[in-house]
Amino acid sequence: MPDVMRLSFLGTGYLGATYAACFAELGYEVLGYDVDDAKIAKLAAGQAPFHEPGLDDLLRRNLAAGRLTFGTSMAEVAEFADVHFICVGTPQRPDGMSADLTFVESVVTTLAPLLTRRALIVGKSTVPVGTAAWVEQLVAKHADPALGVEVAWSPEFLQEGYAVEDVLRPNRIVAGVRSEWARDRLHAAHKGVFDLAATEDRDVPVVVTDFATAELVKVAANAFLATKISFINAMAEVCEVAGGDVTLLARAIGYDPRIGNRFLQAGLGFGGGCLPKDIRAFQARAQELGAGEALRFLHEVDLINTRRRGRALTLAAELLNRPVGPAGPDLSGARIAVLGATFKANSDDVRDAPSLAVAGALTSAGADVHIYDPQGMPNAKAAQPLLSYAPSLAAAVTDVSLVVVATEWAEFRNADPVLLGELVAERQVIDGRNCLDREQWHRAGWTYRGMGRPPM
Ligand code: UGA
Repeated sequence: MPDVMRLSFLGTGYLGATYAACFAELGYEVLGYDVDDAKIAKLAAGQAPFHEPGLDDLLRRNLAAGRLTFGTSMAEVAEFADVHFICVGTPQRPDGMSADLTFVESVVTTLAPLLTRRALIVGKSTVPVGTAAWVEQLVAKHADPALGVEVAWSPEFLQEGYAVEDVLRPNRIVAGVRSEWARDRLHAAHKGVFDLAATEDRDVPVVVTDFATAELVKVAANAFLATKISFINAMAEVCEVAGGDVTLLARAIGYDPRIGNRFLQAGLGFGGGCLPKDIRAFQARAQELGAGEALRFLHEVDLINTRRRGRALTLAAELLNRPVGPAGPDLSGARIAVLGATFKANSDDVRDAPSLAVAGALTSAGADVHIYDPQGMPNAKAAQPLLSYAPSLAAAVTDVSLVVVATEWAEFRNADPVLLGELVAERQVIDGRNCLDREQWHRAGWTYRGMGRPPM
């Protein structure tokens, strides 16, 4: 075995590309694998195929140092590495609930027969509980049994926009293993993370578990976060009818350390490639296992979440004095700016973005909608080509009767309401993320509507 441990990351999407670059930065020799030639070519040129602060620098530095390579040959992967991380996507199936494991199956059954020495295959993708045991069976069937290839499960918790930091400085590592050998190998594959923590006088707790627990930790964490967001959005609904202010309520309950103030931001709700998909796949899997009832509340979490998008539409009708019929509001002819297309700030990801859903609903209601996003325009245009886009914030708001802030980008939070007020036809704003300084906007003559806050 070479002195420096060699790792492969199978699948160079969000997860795999970030891990590959970060683990090279930690000193490992790393090979990133993908079936997508275009993606591999981009990464090999030092460019992440998505927007993630700090990632391009890490890619370039480690490619130049020769610690990081990318390729499309699984034979090369099998030869190169001793620990292989499965980082492929597990998209939602057409049933709208369960997870599709095709990519997991494909990388495992391609890699296993090509292995010529003992190796550890570590699952990182978010999967239904039971997948690790199934992967183990696939390995037993497709790899030479004499080699002693083993499987481990070690879910990840990175957040888009903070991915580099989350990988280099994780707040915990979960190690789902079946043997001492697997545990030691997994530990060695994270030695760089522990060493970095030691130099910064931090500790990275390791929770060693069985397979099922490791898989469940991931979906349980995301289910909890989704529930926390929907809880505060449910409180926003109540505040709206009771005349309360959910931002003050969140601040007040958040001071209780048992509750905590993070993930209590009421607004248009959660989107992205993880929380919505994961809570549905978790319910589907629990149902299959006969524990569907235990997760029935997640259905309600999902409903609360999507109701917030509808609230933006109702507020728009109210501000524009438009009737709301049984089929929803009639907004024909109203010119509206939607600021934000990504599911959150500091990301170019538009998957299941509340912002784009609201823009789509306003357009379907007849409005003339102009969308602007600082980073997400190419992805938004590809995902929703029929919507209308503006080249800048100023262009988006020019002559509109309503501005909807749908993603909390700094460019919108810091925008000058006096200057914007000179461009619009009517000074009316829906703050879909409760991220604006509403006193400042009010002073500049704007009618302000937040989510779960009294009108201003
Ligand atoms: C989420 C989890 O936070 C990560 O821990 C996890 O690793 C990741 O999914 C994953 O499974 O890969 P991410 O999808 O990057 O990370 O996004 P979050 O920061 O969790 O935000 C999700 C959504 O919730 C966004 O639309 C955000 O705007 C919304 N949100 C977040 C709120 O509406 N309110 C809040 O208080 C917080």
